[in-house]
Amino acid sequence: MKKKLGLAILLSGGGSNAQAIMDACRSGVLNAEVRIVGADRLSAGGLDRAADMGVDHFVVDYKSILQDKGEAFACPSDLDLGDILKKQNLFPSDSEPEKVRHFFMRRAAAERMLLDALLPFEPDLIVLAGFMRTLSPYFIDRVQKPGELPKIMNIHPALLPAFPGTDGYGDTFRHGCRVGGCTVHFVDYGEDSGPIVGQAAFPIMPGDSLEDVKRRGLGEEWKLYPECISLYAEGRLALENRPQRSGAVRRVVRVLS
Ligand code: GRF
Repeated sequence: MKKKLGLAILLSGGGSNAQAIMDACRSGVLNAEVRIVGADRLSAGGLDRAADMGVDHFVVDYKSILQDKGEAFACPSDLDLGDILKKQNLFPSDSEPEKVRHFFMRRAAAERMLLDALLPFEPDLIVLAGFMRTLSPYFIDRVQKPGELPKIMNIHPALLPAFPGTDGYGDTFRHGCRVGGCTVHFVDYGEDSGPIVGQAAFPIMPGDSLEDVKRRGLGEEWKLYPECISLYAEGRLALENRPQRSGAVRRVVRVLS
């Protein structure tokens, strides 16, 4: 039996995905252990689930850091804002520079706290499970190194690249799609834009409500996420470069047999 994959989970909400992952670890379906759960808000129900499962947990209160107008937030001393601005793919190039600088300085302050809480647990993989914050290059570069397999995974409630952003099931439903789905992907410097690890789809019937779509989608998420983490734990994921029609090269995931 291979060594267990050490997981850190970040979440913002009820934590049903985190629960599915913790259950899969506990039952042995997934050869992994959840070492730490973190949230960006105190009210995240997923924190109670972690406590019930006897898993360490912490909160970094993003709201107070992002809203703070005074000196209370400490910009990390190792922040290279120029480097972050060059790498980031969250804001278009014509965005107001001061707004973008402000965004990444505050993010880095919050992300430094996340890193300080997470890294002592030496996670092999950081799993975003309903974590409603984008991660900046400051965080990403301190977790994974260029050339290595990415170390941050996310689940998104739509069939990417359709409907990135905060309301994937809502956007799928409002668009009138006949098929909905969810996507597990690695995190890169953009929003929901990293290499796709796995997807699951489900039909949307005439008469279905948005609540029906969400319920069906979550059911798929609970199966898909542990399966994708399992591929990672088994060392069966690799990245390859695939040329695009535009001439750009995209990194895509290859699943090894
Ligand atoms: C999921 O639908 C996930 O895809 C999205 O947020 C929701 C989180 O649900 N990003 P839960 O907190 O895991 O129950």
